Amino acid sequence: MNFNAIEFYASYGVSSQLPPSDRAEIVFSGRSNVGKSSLINKVANRKRLARVSASPGKTVTINFFTAGPGYIVDLPGYGYAKVSRSEKERWAKLMEDYFHSDRDIRLVVQLVDIRHQPTADDLQMINFLIDSEIPFLIALTKADKLTAKQKERRLEELREEIPCGDQLHLVATSAQTFEGIPELRGILEALLEE
Ligand code: GTP
Ligand code: MG
Repeated sequence: MNFNAIEFYASYGVSSQLPPSDRAEIVFSGRSNVGKSSLINKVANRKRLARVSASPGKTVTINFFTAGPGYIVDLPGYGYAKVSRSEKERWAKLMEDYFHSDRDIRLVVQLVDIRHQPTADDLQMINFLIDSEIPFLIALTKADKLTAKQKERRLEELREEIPCGDQLHLVATSAQTFEGIPELRGILEALLEE
């Protein structure tokens, strides 16, 4: 797959606009500011394909990117405290409708900051994925912020913090050092071209 050819396709802010599923999708999910857009940019070898911001809540729509024969989907982040109640409700409805619209979701790349314990919202999302039997892996973001030793320790701890037993697939990633990007690309390519 040519990762350099990943292009923005469309964004949807309300679920009534969501087109029916016509291609395989790989979904990036995680709390606000965890690094979803940055990771997508790295995978696509681009600086500003998905918009990155130091202030959380930048991505408020579901953004689709064409990737080979499939789509990469950038979900709006959750868990940002300063968002209004009506905005949170809009987010919840959008997510519910997205995941329940009979899509060909091959994988959810669930992002968690490697430095911190998963938040209650992260765990809720992960439990939702487990209950819905949606395949997922955990991309641990901002790995460049830890030393090798700290990283190893967090990887061990995360295996206790995330309720998924031995099958848990963890990938340490960094949008700064490229860590984990080749592995992610390999997985995306295999799943989208299947
Ligand atoms: P929302 O769109 O608000 O949901 O956020 P997001 O998850 O898309 O995060 P985004 O990619 O916009 O990144 C948030 C901040 O984290 C930015 O300041 C990024 O530069 C920074 N960041 C993202 N990934 C990394 C990383 O791997 N390493 C470091 N050091 N910083 C990162
Ligand atoms: Mg974003």
